[in-house]
Amino acid sequence: MVAVDGPSGSGKSTVSRRLATLIDGIYLDTGAMYRAITWAVLQSGADLADPEAILKVAQEVDLSIGTDPKAPHFEANGTDVDAAIRGPEVTGAVSAVAAVPQVRAMLVQIQQDIIAGAPRIVVEGRDIASVVAPDADLKVYLTASAAARAARRSAEDATDVKATEADLARRDKLDSSRKTDPLKQASDATELDTTGMGIDDVVTRLLEMLNSKVSS
Ligand code: DC
Repeated sequence: MVAVDGPSGSGKSTVSRRLATLIDGIYLDTGAMYRAITWAVLQSGADLADPEAILKVAQEVDLSIGTDPKAPHFEANGTDVDAAIRGPEVTGAVSAVAAVPQVRAMLVQIQQDIIAGAPRIVVEGRDIASVVAPDADLKVYLTASAAARAARRSAEDATDVKATEADLARRDKLDSSRKTDPLKQASDATELDTTGMGIDDVVTRLLEMLNSKVSS
């Protein structure tokens, strides 16, 4: 089981999906879980400043979590949310939802259940090595310079680089300063700065790290 943590735009998703495919495993995008709940919260009209209202929606939403690394498809209440969860409304609201401790506890439990049933799995998020799977075979913390992260995200979303950089800085601040499980590197995770590295280089590096961990 591989845990890949790091801030937005560090290359986590692309790298994790590629790695999962190469090891013939499944892939869990925990950020997409927080995003799908956020989509349902926005749909319901619940107040983002009201943690109880957010929790109620989270408890009631019927979430379908895709784990195929080639096509990780998500549904919430029977609706395909793959595009909507990447949109600006969800992106703008997700930090508020991810800050609710009971929502986190609920999603962490689901994540742990999925991991328990899957010997080969790559899980990406913010708290995987520290909270969700402290026993992971490999724990990686991906970073990249703010400029590199913004450039990657804006290329993916076709948005303005400067605006993306400002949004990433805003979300980093919210995600690292929240009380429950803030974004931080686990003490036993290996940090890999991917600034200037191509996807293939990063994936090759992780495969080497995994092989040396599993064989040692
Ligand atoms: O990786 P992402 O940008 O899709 O994550 C969306 C949000 O969810 C991000 O603002 C942080 C939060 N998140 C979290 O708190 N814990 C996780 N394990 C994954 C994501």
